[in-house]
Amino acid sequence: MSENIDVILKEGRKFNPPDEFVKNANVTRSEYEKLVRLGKDAPEEYWAQAAKELHWFKTWDKTLVWDPPKAQWFVGGKINASYNCLDRHLKTIPQKTALVWEGEPGEVSTWTYRELYEQVTRLTASLRRLGLKPGDCVAIYMPMIPEAVVAMLACARGGFPHTVIFGGFSAESIKDRVQDAEASVIITADFGYRKGSQIKLREQVDKALKDCSTVKYVIQVQRTKSGQITSEGNRSFSKPACFNSNGNALDWHELISSISHEETQTQGYAEELDSEHPLYILYTSGTTGKPKGIIHTTGGYLVEALQTTKQVFDIKPYDLYWCTADIGWVTGHTYIVYGPLAAGASIFMYEGAPTTPTQDRFWAMIERHHISILYTAPTAIRAFMRLGTEPLRGRDLSSLRLLGTVGEPINPEAWMWYRENVGRNHCPIVDTYWQTETGSIVISPIPGAVATKPGSATFALPGYDVDVVDKKGEPVPPGGGGYLVIKKPWPAMARTIHKDPERYKKQYFSEYPGGVYFTGDGARKDEDGYLWCLGRVDDVLNVSGHRIGTMEVESALVSHPKVAEAAVVGRPDSLKGQALAAFVTLKAGVVQKGDTDSLNAMANELKAHVTKEIGALARPDDIRFTDALPKTRSGKIMRRLLRELATSGQVKGDVTTLEDLAVIAALQKDGEE
Ligand code: WT7
Repeated sequence: MSENIDVILKEGRKFNPPDEFVKNANVTRSEYEKLVRLGKDAPEEYWAQAAKELHWFKTWDKTLVWDPPKAQWFVGGKINASYNCLDRHLKTIPQKTALVWEGEPGEVSTWTYRELYEQVTRLTASLRRLGLKPGDCVAIYMPMIPEAVVAMLACARGGFPHTVIFGGFSAESIKDRVQDAEASVIITADFGYRKGSQIKLREQVDKALKDCSTVKYVIQVQRTKSGQITSEGNRSFSKPACFNSNGNALDWHELISSISHEETQTQGYAEELDSEHPLYILYTSGTTGKPKGIIHTTGGYLVEALQTTKQVFDIKPYDLYWCTADIGWVTGHTYIVYGPLAAGASIFMYEGAPTTPTQDRFWAMIERHHISILYTAPTAIRAFMRLGTEPLRGRDLSSLRLLGTVGEPINPEAWMWYRENVGRNHCPIVDTYWQTETGSIVISPIPGAVATKPGSATFALPGYDVDVVDKKGEPVPPGGGGYLVIKKPWPAMARTIHKDPERYKKQYFSEYPGGVYFTGDGARKDEDGYLWCLGRVDDVLNVSGHRIGTMEVESALVSHPKVAEAAVVGRPDSLKGQALAAFVTLKAGVVQKGDTDSLNAMANELKAHVTKEIGALARPDDIRFTDALPKTRSGKIMRRLLRELATSGQVKGDVTTLEDLAVIAALQKDGEE
């Protein structure tokens, strides 16, 4: 039975890893202390030691050049991420399973490191045939199929920065990203499976393509062939004419089977890239209407992806490791692809929804494949909690030895439920705090060395200088709360925002002087020095672990012809963490006062509109219509008031009455926010 959570929290109860785990841990307590000391006294030396684990075509001349906000790591070094994830393992573990995949309908395929290497080199050679040169960007819009991993690694191999676009984004969002990144190729699939239906990805790409003049080719995987390993066919490959929006896309399997063994050998090589060569652009939401193209480079990023995978996930040769994130998010980049594969781990990948076709799908897969490490999100855990323990009953989860969470604060109740029902009280939990911008995990327990407290991500990893500070930048005393900052550069940090270095500087390095990075998150330091990450302090929301900018949703709403003005705020939600509440003023005469039916229809129309403009993940949960938005005298929207209104429970579900917020605003003091 669950112990009383209040008692556990009040006592500040810590959970120590089981002896068995400690005995075999990659990082023991004494090693941990040494690493922490080195990371503090000589951070550059600490990271340089980590970098030596990787293969470098040429070693670096200088570990760090730091001219805030510009960081360069392992300067002068030559490296390739794909080489490190594949070729480096071919001598030692060519027959080891690199990847086990389950499609949502149930097909399973298993790829060895050699097989993965084969497919990747074929695709790199194909992309070179199409004329791609280092620096040319490739957009990837794919379901969770093995080919998505192949695509990323093939791009990395050729030095073609990839930009992965989450499969839940709409054509509009694809267009914005492809245009900003100036991608010349889009790799996609005809469809993917989700909750039993076919999600037509290619269709969205085609819609976007009309406005994507930089795109020369579309390469499409036929979903029904996913997971099949392609070898040389007898087709001849003739370079197709430039792709146009009504022309044919190149078929993935035809393309890579048309490349001969010889051509794969000569043209599938890993480009020797500068350590600072861009590995990828990943778009993420900020406080304006326009997503930020976060740029990560090769050397520093890979060093930390590998280092943190080994430390935090305690990866062993016999593990089957499953990170449930989508490759469209940074978690999928660092902890499905680059970290685990650089570590030579076996990864598990699943295409579909957690409860399709039955509520026990996750647990059935863990049992079937003997998955030993599970890394998922608090939202997923809370969703499982709601289903109760029935789907878990009788499932053999004894292969599990470590659990992880990421993406949002985990409430202690969910943490305890995860520990008891999934971890069966013997798996340590790593609550990992990080961001798209940080590239890899910043705050997390190292499982064999740090005792955990439910709800706390515990301590910064070695090599990091993390603190909680007040508005002036002064560290808060133990027990205090404030803003989470990182005071020294780290190898996997973002390098800039694509085409907008000013925004990068302003967003992250202008709050505090001296090259201090501001995360945008609030945090608390408790009496034992444990860190509790509390979530965003800016106008960025975290809905089901996905970052959404309120301004993006607002601009989507006002792009509807009937909307005059809109304000979007977050309200707490017991499942998603935060839900989106929109306050909308319609243009005059659109709907008659008191006409509830029309208002409800309008609300649905607006929700559909946002889904079209951004994607279903940004669909507002509530829409409330108002004659006017409450504003201060200087014309600023009183967001705090709106947040209170949205939270107070007066807004329930879809109720969409037209109300006079101006009256409420008048009751509030002027000058707020
Ligand atoms: C934001 C970053 C990189 C992970 C996936 C999300 C929140 C992330 C935690 C955690 C509390 C967390 C923060 C952060 N966050 N992990 N363990 N505890 N909050 O990446 O979309 O870049 O979002 O997610 O608010 O700033 P992202």
